Amino acid sequence: MDIIHTVSELRTRLAKELSIAFVPTMGNLHAGHIALVEEAKRHGTCLVASIFVNRLQFEPGGDFDRYPRTLEEDCRKLAAAGCHVVFAPDERELYPAAQEITLSPPLAAAQLCGDFRPGHFQGVVTVVAKLFNIVAPHAAVFGRKDYQQLFVIRELVLQMNYPVAIVGVATKREPDGLAMSSRNGYLAPGERAQAVQLGRSLRRIAELVASGRRDFDALCEEAREGLAAAGWRVDYVELRNRSRLVPPGPADRDLVVLGAAWIGRTRLIDNLEIDGP
Ligand code: PAF
Repeated sequence: MDIIHTVSELRTRLAKELSIAFVPTMGNLHAGHIALVEEAKRHGTCLVASIFVNRLQFEPGGDFDRYPRTLEEDCRKLAAAGCHVVFAPDERELYPAAQEITLSPPLAAAQLCGDFRPGHFQGVVTVVAKLFNIVAPHAAVFGRKDYQQLFVIRELVLQMNYPVAIVGVATKREPDGLAMSSRNGYLAPGERAQAVQLGRSLRRIAELVASGRRDFDALCEEAREGLAAAGWRVDYVELRNRSRLVPPGPADRDLVVLGAAWIGRTRLIDNLEIDGP
């Protein structure tokens, strides 16, 4: 596996590759990321992963500084998973000048996480566009855990004509159901035990909707109240129509329930797709 730190070396390395499958990450890899690499194998002959903690997508006062950086361990995991090339630029390499040119995210970004993380999706679409320009992949693989991000990236590709097939991969969960995330590492033992509650609240909504309940606002409000009573600070628990990521109408059947909430200093997100009755 080649570990490459500069854009020019990467371009030289990839110049003759006929089909590149790309997994962009911020490192601190867990089994959820490895599932992305496994899926990538089905979409290209050369597997490229990037590791870059993108300052642009962290809101002011966010966890950019404390975000775990574990490059050596990450590279070991990627090599074991069959990755061919790791692109791990430093900030100066990816942002040689102040990034004055940025992309505006689509309307779907102006809600849910976008309401609570100002500038986040602008940072995401900008760095993903840069990475696509550098890697020139044929396919790129993202986790469905970041559901809104995946939706926004599909719009990026559609609206900006990137010749990249976007592939979404199901969320990997711990045995108790907690969605895997690099941020789970921030949780103190008591918080870790509590963390499953977010996913459970979403599952309860999913079950009730699947069994015919259509009082979406009341269901979400009940879940928010339950989490708040258990000590969470809730950013949102919302139902959306999957195809447009807008609040569902009574006839919509392709739904997703999404949540984001804080335990202590750690913000967790999760979501579940629901097939209506
Ligand atoms: O999902 C992530 O890890 C990041 O948002 C991404 C897509 C690598 C962009 O920095």
